[in-house]
Amino acid sequence: MKTKLLIAAFCALLGFNAAVTAAGNATAGKNKAAMCMGCHGADGNAPADAFPKLAGQHAAYLVKQLADFKVATHRNDPTMLGMVAALSDQDMQDLGAFYAAQTGKPGMADEKQVELGKAIYRGGNIASGVPACMGCHSPSGAGNPGAKFPSLKGQHAKYTAKQLRDFRDSKRTNDAGKMMRNVAARMSNAEIEAVSQFIAGLK
Ligand code: HEC
Ligand code: HEC
Repeated sequence: MKTKLLIAAFCALLGFNAAVTAAGNATAGKNKAAMCMGCHGADGNAPADAFPKLAGQHAAYLVKQLADFKVATHRNDPTMLGMVAALSDQDMQDLGAFYAAQTGKPGMADEKQVELGKAIYRGGNIASGVPACMGCHSPSGAGNPGAKFPSLKGQHAKYTAKQLRDFRDSKRTNDAGKMMRNVAARMSNAEIEAVSQFIAGLK
């Protein structure tokens, strides 16, 4: 009993709460996100489909992407390169904590493409060797933070399709063990468009 109380007091002293992850502070991250909101939205739900939604994405994945944009060898984007240039490691951790703590809003799927998209997402394409996306990104699209598989659900289809093409063309090469390049290399344009639509509608 006494020990429990002591631990609780110790945690309160350190300021542990839901907004504070191991290394990032969401409150500090919110202030630092002022320069990101024009594109990614006030709460990380980017209104325009040219920009990815960040709300609800896993913190460690977000931090990895920011660090990758900064090094710019395996993930290159001229816009993001400029945005991360001045960020410290702590800034990235805080920004990751802030966006991870936001609630992702569902997107809209083109109903005409959902059937093929769902088949790919859940079962892959056995003939061409595309694996099922849900094997790594989970049936709901929430991903798996422990295994470093990002959340995909509700993402703008235009952004998802661009990432798949970038992996296929080896323009984006920051996937450990070529996990995504090996997947995308086997996908047709029609499959990329359809699975991106299905993902946009996942909640
Ligand atoms: C001028 C618009 C713009 C601003 C401002 C901006 N971004 Fe971005 N961001 C983009 C674009 C475009 C992409 C997609 C790049 C690509 O196609 O790979 C992106 C991608 C990202 C990604 C990768 C998302 C994923 O799912 O892999 C993260 C993380 C990110 N931005 C964080 C930030 C943060 C943090 C800031 C502020 C410090 C910021 N961005 C400011 C345009 C912007
Ligand atoms: C073997 C596991 C695995 C499978 C199967 C897999 N993925 Fe991935 N995926 C990953 C990993 C790991 C990453 C993160 C790469 C990184 O660290 O930047 C990723 C990243 C992505 C991204 C980039 C997300 C973003 O926010 O930029 C998209 C889009 C994606 N996967 C879509 C798919 C689709 C669609 C399928 C099925 C056709 C699929 N994945 C199958 C492991 C997998």
